[in-house]
Amino acid sequence: MDFLRRLEEYRSLEKQITWEGTFQDYIAILKEKPYVSQLAHARLYSMIRDAGVEEKEGVKHYTFFSSELFGLDKTLEKLVEEYFHPAARRLDVRKRILLLMGPVSGGKSTLVAMLKRGLEKYSREERGSLYAIKGCPMHEEPLHLIPKELRGDFQKTYGVYIEGELCPSCRMMVEQEYNGKIEKIPVERIFLSEDNRVGIGTFTPSDPKSQDIADLTGSVDFSTIAEYGSESDPRAYRFDGELNIANRGLMEFQEMLKCDEKFLWNLLSLSQEGNFKAGRFALIYADELVVAHTNENEYKTFISNKKNEALQSRIIVLKIPYNLRVSDEIKIYEKLIGQSDLRNIHIAPHALRVASIFSVMTRLKESKKQGMDLVKKMKLYDGEDVEGFKQKDLHELQIEAIDEGMSGVDPRYVINRLSSALIRTSTQCINPLDVLRALKEGLDQHPSITKEEKDRLLNFISVARKEYDEMAKKEVQRAFVYAYEESAKVLFDNYLDNVEAFCNGVKIKDPLTDEEMDPDEKLMRSIEEQIGISESAKKSFREEILIRLSSYARKNRRFNYSSHERLREAIEKKLFADLKDVVKITTSTKTPDAGQLKRINEVSARLIAEHGYCPTCANELLRYVGSLLNR
Ligand SMILES: Nc1ncnc2c1ncn2[C@@H]1O[C@H](COP(=O)(O)OP(=O)(O)OP(=O)(O)O)[C@@H](O)[C@H]1O
Ligand SMILES: [Mg+2]
Ligand SMILES: [Zn+2]
Ligand SMILES: [Zn+2]
Repeated sequence: MDFLRRLEEYRSLEKQITWEGTFQDYIAILKEKPYVSQLAHARLYSMIRDAGVEEKEGVKHYTFFSSELFGLDKTLEKLVEEYFHPAARRLDVRKRILLLMGPVSGGKSTLVAMLKRGLEKYSREERGSLYAIKGCPMHEEPLHLIPKELRGDFQKTYGVYIEGELCPSCRMMVEQEYNGKIEKIPVERIFLSEDNRVGIGTFTPSDPKSQDIADLTGSVDFSTIAEYGSESDPRAYRFDGELNIANRGLMEFQEMLKCDEKFLWNLLSLSQEGNFKAGRFALIYADELVVAHTNENEYKTFISNKKNEALQSRIIVLKIPYNLRVSDEIKIYEKLIGQSDLRNIHIAPHALRVASIFSVMTRLKESKKQGMDLVKKMKLYDGEDVEGFKQKDLHELQIEAIDEGMSGVDPRYVINRLSSALIRTSTQCINPLDVLRALKEGLDQHPSITKEEKDRLLNFISVARKEYDEMAKKEVQRAFVYAYEESAKVLFDNYLDNVEAFCNGVKIKDPLTDEEMDPDEKLMRSIEEQIGISESAKKSFREEILIRLSSYARKNRRFNYSSHERLREAIEKKLFADLKDVVKITTSTKTPDAGQLKRINEVSARLIAEHGYCPTCANELLRYVGSLLNR
């Protein structure tokens, strides 16, 4: 039984990593591994850094986030470099509340969830391990036990930094139970866990009338208060608010700006001094990241209110825009589909791409640059050079478009449209046209959309449609050309012979009649024109081909039809143009003859075997392209 063995392994790992001892033992551990006492932000930062960093084109990519967040590299780089890194070095930013601001379904919650799950995992690993005073409701750092007067020496000897005071509960325990003998106080290794309420908290605002500040800072325990007589006895207080339990890790403050003011005031001193007020106690120290999220409108309302100024200066805002790269948007959809009821449906090639083109376009801002339009921008952002612009121009475009990505269609909308399209049809496969149709119907059903906005969105659907038409034709073209591979080869050889003769200024021999002829200019041009080579550029193109050919020959390699990308494209297009009528007839006839049927079968077999189609969408593709060609 594999599972039982795994279970056994799991238990033995649990045993291995649990640890209990005294404060004295803890100091011995600390001597060897000073990192166990790092503060929450430093631990978060090492967690992210330990997972790995890769630098591509001047942007850092943090592996920690790469399994679930796509296309947000710049934002994440900012988060790590401008928040976590200085916070890890104990600069003041760590006390600020980190406020993620961005449009709906833009990944804010996902980002926080990754940090939470990451901490849970990291605290179980060696590099992320941490310890706490056993029984402390806030699982606080054992170093708090060291009296103020002795800390200076201790820090020097052990090279660690001590910050924070004992919580009221531990303070009492030290005096009453241990009589100040701190070296005997029990310490344990802890594992951060949201479920167990260790080091990870979540605060969600509810009805302001019924919500109690106790949810944040704990409350008087009425069952024991009679016994201990006073509210200021820590034994009569439950330190179980989200701020308490999140000590050592992070607290997520959901919808922070929707929250009642009195809750926000509580964060003032935490976000300044690193401590907060609870019950009848002196300020309580807490070491945690407070991370909140909000949308732009709420944030604007918030900052326009003068009363919020104090809090505002204690907040660090990080904008989380939508992803703007088509290929990353596809990854988001693939991820969401993997988690949804669409999982077992065949998604035809390009279906997610057309959806992504649509949604990315809705997020882009018009550029004022001469010759730039949204379609080009969409392609350029995705790494494709376009007419008049190259990747190096990206930076300028981005600077020009501040706030780009803060509005537009969100990824969840697209997935919801796909699901609802699916529910209504019985099909087991969704093709790009289904996707576009579903998106369009969604716009019709949208109640709050203005006519102007709707037209703008409809226009993006037709852009996506046009892009798809090109992809579809190309795909069918390729598949047909393969079915005619022999012809492609002949055409190719023929072209090469002619180019050779042309460049060397010699005649060419007719293989049948042995007759000497001039190179066939018409044939060569008919191929070159397919990829836009002008009359004046033909000579240098041909020479380039010949140079390539001889360099292959020198290395004893065969120069074949796919050795030169542009030539290959030209040959395919030419062949396709020659075959156009064949394709047109074959794909659109309702009653194909035996020969046509054979070709159709060959082509769709190719689409299925090598291009990810299923019989349904392969068939649909052929029909669609047939209708395009008949226009
Ligand atoms: N850039 C992205 N990369 C990967 N997944 C993303 C991205 N943006 C959104 N998603 C996915 O879209 C879904 C919605 O995102 P999430 O709930 O994190 O958004 P949010 O910003 O918290 O939205 P809300 O403001 O509605 O709370 C999630 O499943 C998330 O994984
Ligand atoms: Mg959210
Ligand atoms: Zn304590
Ligand atoms: Zn299919």
